[in-house]
Amino acid sequence: MLGLPGMRAVRRLRSCYRWLDDRLGIDDALGKSVLHRTVPRQANFSFCFGGLSFLLFVLLFVTGCFMTLYYVPSVDHAHDSVDFMMYEVSLGAVVRSAHHWSASLIVVTLVIHMARVFVYGAYKRPRELNWMTGVALLGLTLASAFTGHLLPWDQKGYWATKVGAHIVRSTPWLGEYLYAILLGGPEIGAVTLVRFYALHVIFLPITTVCLLLAHFWMIRRHGIKYDL
Ligand code: HEM
Ligand code: HEM
Repeated sequence: MLGLPGMRAVRRLRSCYRWLDDRLGIDDALGKSVLHRTVPRQANFSFCFGGLSFLLFVLLFVTGCFMTLYYVPSVDHAHDSVDFMMYEVSLGAVVRSAHHWSASLIVVTLVIHMARVFVYGAYKRPRELNWMTGVALLGLTLASAFTGHLLPWDQKGYWATKVGAHIVRSTPWLGEYLYAILLGGPEIGAVTLVRFYALHVIFLPITTVCLLLAHFWMIRRHGIKYDL
């Protein structure tokens, strides 16, 4: 199938990998323990959705990082910088669209993942903490979608944020404080945009990665529940 040049390239790649593996021990650390496990017979399609959610998160992370190269979090330039990304930067529209669609799709895959876990009773002892970190991960994903919406600084984002902020404001007793903390003032403005940007690209992703590590650690510790 591969021609002679192809075979040579594969051999060269293999020897590069062996060189690296000798020095870093990648196979011992990862390969045998994580990547070479067999999928049990009982696993079915519904077990894909945790992994799919993870894949979408990685895609959001990578496309998001690339967008920070062009996006400017200021009321004067945010909208223009997104426009510039869409129409002037090569592959900018692809990267932004991948971010936009993954943000919607991850909510769908997470709901199906939750439903699978619930139906299999995998939230019960000893996996309670895994369910709890899952709930927090769902909250963080929704918070990322909420803060991301304002960033293009368009009508849709502005009014969606207004509705969300007023829902927060209706919290009993603490509503006014939470509203002021969220917006950084009495109205949506320059401080809100910077605040949402910082939350979106620093605070929320770091917290999500930490919780994902805990989530995966517990999956390794307890195994996946395959029987109903
Ligand atoms: C669960 C994770 C995430 C979700 C759900 C999410 C969601 C969103 C959404 C809904 C938008 C608005 C997109 C649009 O209007 O087309 C957005 C924009 C943006 N996001 Fe994210 N995001 C996530 C992670 C990240 C990360 C990790 C970064 C960077 C480190 C990032 C950087 C950006 C930037 C720079 C924008 C502004 C550009 C634009 O509006 O298209 N995002 N995000
Ligand atoms: C970004 C978010 C999330 C990612 C990337 C993720 C990823 C995963 C993966 C890959 C698994 C292995 C089994 C499978 O895929 O079905 C898993 C298991 C699990 N997840 Fe999630 N998950 C997330 C959110 C959630 C949510 C929202 C919940 C529930 C509220 C949850 C609860 C659980 C539980 C209880 C298990 C253990 C299941 C078992 O042992 O059979 N996860 N997660």
